[in-house]
Amino acid sequence: MSGKGLFISFEGIDGSGKSTQARLLAEALERAGHAVVLTREPGGSDGAEEIRALVLQGDPDRWSAETELLLFTAARRDHLERVIAPALTAGKVVICDRFADSTRMYQGLSRGDLRDKVDALHRLMIGIEPDLTLLIDMDPAAGLARAKARATAEERFEDFGLSLQQDMRAGFLRLAEEFAARFVVIDGDRAAEEVAADVLSMVEARLP
Ligand code: ADP
Ligand code: TYD
Repeated sequence: MSGKGLFISFEGIDGSGKSTQARLLAEALERAGHAVVLTREPGGSDGAEEIRALVLQGDPDRWSAETELLLFTAARRDHLERVIAPALTAGKVVICDRFADSTRMYQGLSRGDLRDKVDALHRLMIGIEPDLTLLIDMDPAAGLARAKARATAEERFEDFGLSLQQDMRAGFLRLAEEFAARFVVIDGDRAAEEVAADVLSMVEARLP
């Protein structure tokens, strides 16, 4: 599905260390001579970054759950067309901080039971899954404390509190079982360098 390149996503609750690990992995692979595209969702292309501002800033109840799902999917479609697909076709390693599994969790679970609609839209409009998904798993209270320590203008789902984070952690672990062929669960509750070493060994095993 993903052409000649390797498509890697990072998933996990807010504050679990996805962005940190995505960056460390990109640096390690670049040092090893790979062509790497480091990107993120929502966002990653100009249009998708505009949609990111619409979904993550302002009143959290600004959009219904269904509208929000459409906006995240629209952002992903633009990101896929303009950034991810061309990079994979060119044989690059694409490292994406969150992808469709986040929609399965946040729109599919947290704001009502929309999982069927999430999957239907994904099939219709996106159609690819990562080759490898690294789930950075950790205690939700610790993740939330880390996430809260960052001050940003974005209204994130972390603002919904600890019980949502607990549901999200359990949901991500269920997704890892559902898509066992591409998921690897990594203990994120360790020093960043230790986590990064595990991540790199998982990725190296899948590189051509
Ligand atoms: P995410 O992208 O999953 O929300 P980040 O990578 O942005 O997580 O990390 C959240 C915060 O925790 C940041 O301030 C980051 O510097 C810090 N952090 C990341 N990894 C670790 C780690 N292994 N141990 C302690 N703090 C970390
Ligand atoms: P992100 O910037 O990755 O947040 P963090 O670094 O705190 O993990 O993502 C922003 C928020 O967007 C996050 O709370 C999860 C949410 N999100 C969705 O609800 N659906 C999606 O499809 C994606 C990609 C993210």
